[in-house]
Amino acid sequence: MAAWLEGRVVRLHRWTDRLYSLQVQAEIPPFKAGQFTRLALEIDGEMVARPYSFVNGPDNPLLEFYFIRVPGGPLTARLIELKPGDPLFIAPRSAGFFTLDEIPAAEVLWMLSTGTALGPFLSILSTAQPWRRYRRIVLVHAVRYVPELTYRDEIDALLAAHPQQLQYIPFVSREPVDFALHGRVTNALVNGTLEARAGLTLDAENSQVMICGNPSMVADTQQALEARGLKKNRRREPGQITTEQYWKT
Ligand SMILES: Cc1cc2nc3c(=O)[nH]c(=O)nc-3n(C[C@H](O)[C@H](O)[C@H](O)COP(=O)(O)OP(=O)(O)OC[C@H]3O[C@@H](n4cnc5c(N)ncnc54)[C@H](O)[C@@H]3O)c2cc1C
Ligand SMILES: NC(=O)c1ccc[n+]([C@@H]2O[C@H](COP(=O)([O-])OP(=O)(O)OC[C@H]3O[C@@H](n4cnc5c(N)ncnc54)[C@H](OP(=O)(O)O)[C@@H]3O)[C@@H](O)[C@H]2O)c1
Repeated sequence: MAAWLEGRVVRLHRWTDRLYSLQVQAEIPPFKAGQFTRLALEIDGEMVARPYSFVNGPDNPLLEFYFIRVPGGPLTARLIELKPGDPLFIAPRSAGFFTLDEIPAAEVLWMLSTGTALGPFLSILSTAQPWRRYRRIVLVHAVRYVPELTYRDEIDALLAAHPQQLQYIPFVSREPVDFALHGRVTNALVNGTLEARAGLTLDAENSQVMICGNPSMVADTQQALEARGLKKNRRREPGQITTEQYWKT
């Protein structure tokens, strides 16, 4: 198998001065919603590759990735310069276990994301599987500032298509807001604000929780959930908490 497949940039959308979505055309083997691939560019004669979650669903041939420009980050500095038609390398195999196949059935599926980790949840929600499997789904997107609450049109379309099943709960931590919850998901979990906003209880009997993004948020949220009796979900020992972190602390 070739080390890299060559794709072509279709569009680079800039949401804020730090947040971008990249659309890419490439012939890749099938992947599962929630998985990631690796994107690569040749920089100073070396292939620089990083993992990125798919935002598009597996049935959508236009690949989409949602990323943040990391100060001093070698790959993102180059990704934001891409133009339509530019080549971009993509791994021939997708990977990852942050998929619904790995998650037991439950009454409520909680999807907790920070920043660009909204992406894999949008991919999962674009498929039929979550709507068949969970009676209620709560999508949480936690960001620092209001303009970072991206993909609102796509989320509104999901809400319109599944009004009884889906709830969207945005969190903004660093500026005052009226429509979103203020502060951190972890605090809202501990003080009951998250459940009150959702009108649902979150416990080991009724819930599955997927957490993705900032590693300290993933760790702190997992700890808060374990304190109320939920357990890490493992293949050999199913539990209620499934996580993916985007970088190491
Ligand atoms: C499984 C997996 C999936 C990922 N999916 C995505 C994705 O869909 N979108 C995305 O933007 N990134 C994603 N990442 C992170 C991504 O692979 C890169 O690390 C990131 O884009 C920065 O690349 P870089 O070469 O510019 O800097 P790097 O040298 O790779 O990173 C420098 C530092 O930037 C910080 N950082 C890295 N990624 C992020 C991030 N997403 N948000 C905030 N700070 C970060 C960390 O402190 C890191 O040490 C994912 C990582 C993993 C492990
Ligand atoms: N977005 C920006 O304007 C900006 C500017 C400069 C640098 N950066 C860098 O870009 C990277 C990612 O930025 P990002 O915008 O995706 O934000 P982020 O730092 O991952 O924060 C996203 C959300 O997660 C929350 N969060 C962080 N740690 C948490 C924890 N332990 N428990 C619960 N919630 C937690 C944040 O709350 P808090 O706000 O309370 O932390 C915020 O609401 C970071 O490495 C950051 O240093 C971003």
